[in-house]
Amino acid sequence: MDRINSYCDAKTWDGELPPPRDIIIENIASSDGLLCLLTDKIDAQLMDKGPKLKVISNCAVGFDNIDIDAATKRGIVVGNTPGVLTETTADFAFALMMAAARRVAEGDRNVRAGKWKTWGPMILLGQDVYGSTLGIIGMGRIGAAVARRAKGFGMKIMYYDVIRQPQTEKELGLEYVEIGKVLAESDFITLHTNLSPQTHHLIGPEQFKRMKRNCILINTSRGPIVDNMALYEALRDGTIAYAALDVTEPEPIPIDHPLLTLDNIVIAPHIASASVATRTKMGLMAADNLIAGLKGEMLPNPVNPEVLGNRS
Ligand code: GLV
Repeated sequence: MDRINSYCDAKTWDGELPPPRDIIIENIASSDGLLCLLTDKIDAQLMDKGPKLKVISNCAVGFDNIDIDAATKRGIVVGNTPGVLTETTADFAFALMMAAARRVAEGDRNVRAGKWKTWGPMILLGQDVYGSTLGIIGMGRIGAAVARRAKGFGMKIMYYDVIRQPQTEKELGLEYVEIGKVLAESDFITLHTNLSPQTHHLIGPEQFKRMKRNCILINTSRGPIVDNMALYEALRDGTIAYAALDVTEPEPIPIDHPLLTLDNIVIAPHIASASVATRTKMGLMAADNLIAGLKGEMLPNPVNPEVLGNRS
């Protein structure tokens, strides 16, 4: 905020919950730029309320909350925060994988509920991460960072992406396979795709049926990539063993959601990039994107750079 305030007059929303849409609309009318969070849905209708809007800076790497085509058509450049959160997010995907495999959250719940009576040879038996097979769906920056970690755990790694990544494949010794093989042969499946109409409910009833019964699904990407009701049924019926989610559909997940009745799931409140260092870097990057856009300069991290290219 210091960086932004030193460049322009900024109005901020200090509420814990996202600003209501009418507040954004009211304030966007006279704004040249907008810095928003992934909880703010920025669509064409809203952009049309901001005739002066030149830049939208999203303080997130994912930008499915913004209609990029609509922004491009209106000459609005959009920025995001890639790179700085890659390792932190991969750490968290791994943390979730370990937590699910070794039933950490269940163990904690048992301890707090006074159920820890003794050490027992059959208590809370989980699965080994070391030496197992990991399937990665989406081999971008974060997928590759997870693969690097998995190598240290002696995992066999296969991946699927719509775009094959030969360089990463060679560097990390990964096997590129069709999505069907990832589903059928992985002990752990971790999702690292962006959310688009093509990836919406990518993992649904048919996909769960193809997974191994011991399979553990990890999602740190976007909630709607997984069909939550299908996941509920798969976990309830033992079609797969466990899930570990940092993202849900919707967010927050309603407290009476059936998934929360199950023991074989661990859910975090969308915190994969939430380290002090990374959130600081994301904030600064979002501020720099905003300021560059206000100046009419190329953003350090533009999503639709063609907007500025066309202007000059
Ligand atoms: C968080 O989910 C992000 O996209 O940065």
